[in-house]
Amino acid sequence: MPAVIAQARLTALRERLGERAVLTDPQQTAPYLTDHRKLYRGAALAVVEPSSVEQVQALLHWCNAQRIGVVPQGGNTSYCGGATPDDSGTQVVLSMRRLNRIRAVDAANFSLIAEAGCTLSSVQGAAAAADRLFPLSLGSEGSCQIGGNLSTNAGGTAVLRYGMTRDLVLGVEAVMADGELFCGLVALRKDNTGYDLRNLLIGSEGTLAVITAASLKLFPAIRTRATAWVSLPDPASAIALLGQLRQTSGDALTGCELAPQVALQLVLQHVPGTRDPGGAAAPWYLLVELSSSGEADLDALLEHTLARAIEEGVALDAVLARSLDQRKAFWKLRETIPEAQRAAGGSLKHDIAVPVACLPAFIERGAAIAARLAPEGYLVAYGHAGDGNLHFNLNQREGADEAAFLAREPALKRALHDLAAQMNGSISAEHGIGQLKVEELERYAPAAELTAMRRIKQALDPNNILNPGKVLRSRS
Ligand code: MLT
Ligand code: ZN
Repeated sequence: MPAVIAQARLTALRERLGERAVLTDPQQTAPYLTDHRKLYRGAALAVVEPSSVEQVQALLHWCNAQRIGVVPQGGNTSYCGGATPDDSGTQVVLSMRRLNRIRAVDAANFSLIAEAGCTLSSVQGAAAAADRLFPLSLGSEGSCQIGGNLSTNAGGTAVLRYGMTRDLVLGVEAVMADGELFCGLVALRKDNTGYDLRNLLIGSEGTLAVITAASLKLFPAIRTRATAWVSLPDPASAIALLGQLRQTSGDALTGCELAPQVALQLVLQHVPGTRDPGGAAAPWYLLVELSSSGEADLDALLEHTLARAIEEGVALDAVLARSLDQRKAFWKLRETIPEAQRAAGGSLKHDIAVPVACLPAFIERGAAIAARLAPEGYLVAYGHAGDGNLHFNLNQREGADEAAFLAREPALKRALHDLAAQMNGSISAEHGIGQLKVEELERYAPAAELTAMRRIKQALDPNNILNPGKVLRSRS
């Protein structure tokens, strides 16, 4: 873009948002221009940080008129490059960071209203202060933002009990492409009044509107928890134990996370402050957690169910967390697997889901595929067993050639995604499409769905200014 046009555009942005809200200094903008996996590096006309919804409206109104692409960004924790601009230098990154107020907490209605830039942990904290629970829980909760969670329909570790982000939202406030405000911050459990714009915007990754605030569902605060680290012979045992725990606990099972021995070893090796949880070393582990808002003796219940599972040969061993610190230590072992993987070198990631009962078959067949198509790597398949969602990742073997390993990606991805599709699964269970999986979506989504998505995009964002090229290929 000619410098004179860029300067004029920057002046216009400053007029609308104020000097402080328009960042152009490369040192300041750099963190916004790359994703946290370092897969993408973009450029931008500016990074803008509005401090009010009116400013977001003014921004979109102007960008729509000028046909300037806007890339909304929350905590920048996307695994799919969903918040990184392209390299043209003509787009504007819209950071939601300063829109970070909890607007209201209504304990009696079990709801709260948070602005998009609130970190997930601050939303959890606001709920807790009112003796309520906001159950969405992710490894990145200290930095990811609720607007990003909604935009990507984030999953995490409590989906089994409480559902995906979509299931936790009562209403949204959003700015449409032309700057019009959609005031949909209802706090109703029931509202059957026409098309559900809220649910259309959730999971649309900033391509249909910019979510500025959300009305969120709260739940009774948790009073008791029981957590165990369970050693297992194989993934089939994990699924058997999942069923037993759901049945015997009165559906109090909140977390059910699967990890292989190699993931535990990576964490112990690379993440400071972690230690072996104890119990028998085993090929697989399951981190299970029961929770209740009542006074039930969940420890006894969990102990009883696990003892029976060990007797029956479903589990090999189990260690119950006897203190809050021990519980946190177990969760740290699970939540830092991505960090340990990163520290261990190059990795190839796949976020697949299959019906829960198919997980063992997926692991067996997927492992054979990985061994055949990526011999320079080793499998680190872990994730949310209770949801049928695995991060079917590979790490580079020590001494293997990195370029050769990474070159395996396309064929491996194709084979694993084909396998997931054969099992009626998903190629992106919880990480979204972003820019990483646009072609994958084109390949695996039903034709009628793609047609409908393109028509919806055309209708709501006719000038293609909202996160262009994410989810759907940009129209030329
Ligand atoms: C997780 O469950 O730890 C995250 O979704 C990250 C990952 O894919 O590794
Ligand atoms: Zn996950």
